[in-house]
Amino acid sequence: MRIVCIGGGPAGLYFALLMKKQNPAHQVTVVERNRAFDTFGWGVVFSDATMQSMREWDPQTAATIEDAFNHWDDIELVFKGRKIRTTGHGFVGIGRKKMLNILQERCLELGVELVFEQDVLSDEEFADADLIIASDGVNSRIRARHEDVFRPDMLMRPNRYIWLGTDKAFDAFTFDFQRTEHGWFQAHIYKFDDSTSTFIVETTEEVFNAHGIGEMDQDQSIAFCEKLFADTLDGSRLMSNARHLRGSAWLNFGRLICEKWSHFNGKSHVVLMGDSAHTAHFAIGSGTKLAIDDAIELTRQFNAFGHDAKNIPAVLDAYEEVRGVDVARIQNAARNAMEWFEVVGHRYADTLEPEQFMYSMLTRSQRISHENLRLRDPEWLEGYERWFAKRAGVEPAADGSVPPPMFTPYTVRGLTLRNRIVVSPMAMYSATDGLADDFHMVHLGARAMGGAALIFPEMTCTSPDARITPGCLGLWNEEQTAALKRIVDFVHGQTPAKIGVQLGHAGRKGSTKRGWEGMDQPLDEGNWPLLSASAIPYLSQSQVPRAMTRDDMDRVVADFVAATKRAAAAGFDILELHAAHGYLLSSFLSPLTNRRGDEYGGSHENRARFPLEVFRAVRAAWPQDRPISVRLSTTDWHEGGNTPEDAAIFARMFREAGADLIDCSTGQVVTDDSPVYGRLWQTPMSDKIRNEVGVATIAVGAISEADHANSVIAAGRADLCAVARPHLADPSFVLHEAAKIGFSGVEWPKQYLSARSQYENNLARAAAEAAGRK
Ligand SMILES: Cc1cc2nc3c(=O)[nH]c(=O)nc-3n(C[C@H](O)[C@H](O)[C@H](O)COP(=O)(O)OP(=O)(O)OC[C@H]3O[C@@H](n4cnc5c(N)ncnc54)[C@H](O)[C@@H]3O)c2cc1C
Ligand SMILES: Cc1cc2nc3c(=O)[nH]c(=O)nc-3n(C[C@H](O)[C@H](O)[C@H](O)COP(=O)(O)O)c2cc1C
Repeated sequence: MRIVCIGGGPAGLYFALLMKKQNPAHQVTVVERNRAFDTFGWGVVFSDATMQSMREWDPQTAATIEDAFNHWDDIELVFKGRKIRTTGHGFVGIGRKKMLNILQERCLELGVELVFEQDVLSDEEFADADLIIASDGVNSRIRARHEDVFRPDMLMRPNRYIWLGTDKAFDAFTFDFQRTEHGWFQAHIYKFDDSTSTFIVETTEEVFNAHGIGEMDQDQSIAFCEKLFADTLDGSRLMSNARHLRGSAWLNFGRLICEKWSHFNGKSHVVLMGDSAHTAHFAIGSGTKLAIDDAIELTRQFNAFGHDAKNIPAVLDAYEEVRGVDVARIQNAARNAMEWFEVVGHRYADTLEPEQFMYSMLTRSQRISHENLRLRDPEWLEGYERWFAKRAGVEPAADGSVPPPMFTPYTVRGLTLRNRIVVSPMAMYSATDGLADDFHMVHLGARAMGGAALIFPEMTCTSPDARITPGCLGLWNEEQTAALKRIVDFVHGQTPAKIGVQLGHAGRKGSTKRGWEGMDQPLDEGNWPLLSASAIPYLSQSQVPRAMTRDDMDRVVADFVAATKRAAAAGFDILELHAAHGYLLSSFLSPLTNRRGDEYGGSHENRARFPLEVFRAVRAAWPQDRPISVRLSTTDWHEGGNTPEDAAIFARMFREAGADLIDCSTGQVVTDDSPVYGRLWQTPMSDKIRNEVGVATIAVGAISEADHANSVIAAGRADLCAVARPHLADPSFVLHEAAKIGFSGVEWPKQYLSARSQYENNLARAAAEAAGRK
């Protein structure tokens, strides 16, 4: 085959050498616009996994690269006058120039033709090529020529950064945060040879503008950075190698995704590779890794289909399919890390103490968890756990041990929870006339014995017409109060758990069948009239609700107050107001369901007016020493709906009205929402609200093991973690998770104690066997 790589960065060079090595009969050319052995760039970092693949695919290059590598294990944080260091992170770094020179030499050795100083204008310059690799970087001209086919989506991010170097070798990956009168700057610093380090300085557009950096030339902005990071630089100078760029050389990162990666131009197949196909933010240092992995995968597909031009279409399809998945995964992690650095100033740097700030930074991509950190640096993690426990009021035991973050107590008003896990409210649709019965006693009783600090029964409705289904719990009469009190008394009398009540009104999502009979479907008979902010049905076949009148509001407020008093009398420890998921109060908050033209619709203030009125009335009726949380849909996952920004505005209003906690759920407001699921998928909203609004939060959603909960609590992304479905699968979820992480400080019901050691021993045996198999 005749192969031309346009662009001699890591992608083009590595693919060229791999293909030539696989089949020396291929005629492979790399065309690069820069001069031979003359490239821009400071150092790049690599992961062990990429290095392992490189060893398998071309041991010779891998060995030379490894010889030139700088290894280091430590991360150091410079923040608020402190230096905090952890180890065990295993980085390797190499100068970009060094690496490209190694690849160039290997190309020549294998017989790849290298053409320098040729600026390619079009893929059609190589009409004789069977395959053209568009490895021409993020601003790919070849991609731009076929934009209609590749359909690139370039999202320019708000932060500004400048890629500098310094002649000081830092022995740790160093993150230095400095505050100016206008806001925060951060430097990402890592060495790549014995005497030089990469030094990337980043800040928000706002701070960049406030300092007038856009008007500075490169020398002035370098002088600015040298002054800002003078302590860390310790006399060393910063250097630019972007003299070819005009102006100050501060860039915005562009996140690139392409819908299609390959195209037949009538003569040759053209395929994107490396930065021309996708970008990943430097916060996780994966750009070079992705370029190398692309080159390997395309070669692997040629090996699978056969090194023949006729197989190119099938090879390219397979390449795109395999790489698309991996790239999406990395871009996802990169996005979390990138966003962390975009909001770090006002969200974390201003509020978190250095210890927690470090933890938050280390876990920014949500790919490194609490137990990962323990594997990397047990000493540092144990120190952090002690710091965290102390803040939660826990002194170390005689042997110096402290509970992990999720097992520290939490106090809010007069309520102290013994750990951070909450059984999230879950509708069981099993009540008759709103009355709790033996099912509820057994269901809730079992979970109260299962180790969680706080359990919530399902949404409990304030009137018969406030129910979602005929099977929902209610609190509109004394019989219901007595039935719930029986459960509350059991929980208080027989278990160390606390129990909360979630009060709600179904609004336009009411009068439907029980979950398993047809979720959200109207009843076949016996429907009751519905209320909502506006007269918009939930499903096309749903009943049209009445837009609430002032009289309706008065009645609903009175019902909430009466239910609150009953809940207090029943002895519930905490009350949660359900203002999420498209139910009545949520229908006022979301612009998708609230189309009112009066003082209850329109602005945030108007949309929150009725929910806040309910909240204030409930707060006044609820004992002062007992806390209230408010559950919000912190995004509607829908164009034109509430975003996390809107949710933060509402959270602030509820906090000011006296809410103690915001329970951060999402969505379920409209049927055509597009939630993005995944591990800890709603936690970013909790993180935002807790740290930007300054209110305690409950995180919920796919928090399904102790490691997740510990990571969320330790990083300060929430104060409590609500766990729903795992508690349906396993009433003793918390007891079991504690055993899995080897924490013995959680109390089992005394009646079950004989099971405990057997359970723990079985786990220990399984772990030992698994370790033996490795
Ligand atoms: C601030 C910053 C820090 C980074 N840090 C890291 C890091 O630590 N680790 C990491 O792995 N990655 C890092 N990256 C990303 C990394 O630089 C790229 O992801 C990687 O180089 C992509 O390789 P590539 O071969 O696809 O593209 P490039 O390296 O951009 O190579 C493209 C080549 O094509 C040439 N070219 C372009 N157009 C033409 C044309 N028309 N004709 C001929 N030649 C052309 C260019 O001169 C260039 O040599 C960082 C990026 C930035 C911006
Ligand atoms: C069967 C079931 C019923 C639910 N009922 C309620 C409810 O009554 N009130 C509420 O706020 N959320 C309810 N939810 C949502 C959960 O409280 C929780 O937010 C969601 O399941 C995500 O957590 P998970 O990933 O741990 O399951 C329910 C969830 C399930 C699975």
